[in-house]
Amino acid sequence: MKNIAVLLSGRGSNFKAIYNSIEAGYIVNARIKAVVSNKAEAPGLQFAKDRCLSSYFVNPSEFESRTAYDTEIIDILKSKGIDLVCLAGYMRLLSAKFVDTFKNRIMNIHPSLLPAFPGLNAQKQALEYGVKISGCTVHFVDKELDHGPIILQKAVEIKGNDTVKDVSERILIEEHKIYPEAVRLFVENRLTVNNRKVSIDYS
Ligand code: GAR
Repeated sequence: MKNIAVLLSGRGSNFKAIYNSIEAGYIVNARIKAVVSNKAEAPGLQFAKDRCLSSYFVNPSEFESRTAYDTEIIDILKSKGIDLVCLAGYMRLLSAKFVDTFKNRIMNIHPSLLPAFPGLNAQKQALEYGVKISGCTVHFVDKELDHGPIILQKAVEIKGNDTVKDVSERILIEEHKIYPEAVRLFVENRLTVNNRKVSIDYS
């Protein structure tokens, strides 16, 4: 059994996709043991509460440094025996201590084909740049923003008169497929990380 923690800041649709994949039996031998948010009002946190999952609002204003804040979360995750940390729209940078504590056990989803368009508003960046294809990426987290070893990616076409909303919606549909798939591969011990490269055992 693998214990999963989800860190989120907002809507939590990727969290719901992972949760639903476990409930539906697409991901087996895994359970969500903790949901943590830096935003008290995050709808994703409410979704967790409504399902009686252990949920935590950790208030950034109560901590003097990023490391102190992350230490509080590390303590929660350790007490829950967490194997995998899923960032799902978690809009805070992680400290080096957090990344080291869960090395190659933190995943993130980003709404672009990394290494293109890291950072905020990736869909808007892609549209303004004029690319014809964008997409989404699930990757392990390292100490650089939106940078770690890539697990899965899915391309999405950008059409002539698309708005940011159109592109975001089209990408989100694919996010909800590849994030649960990446979690399933982790839970089934099919992922091996070698420097930047993630190999997947499909046998
Ligand atoms: C998703 O589109 C995710 O890819 C993006 O935030 C959204 C969260 O939606 N993450 C980032 O931009 C991280 N750099 P959700 O709360 O509905 O899962």
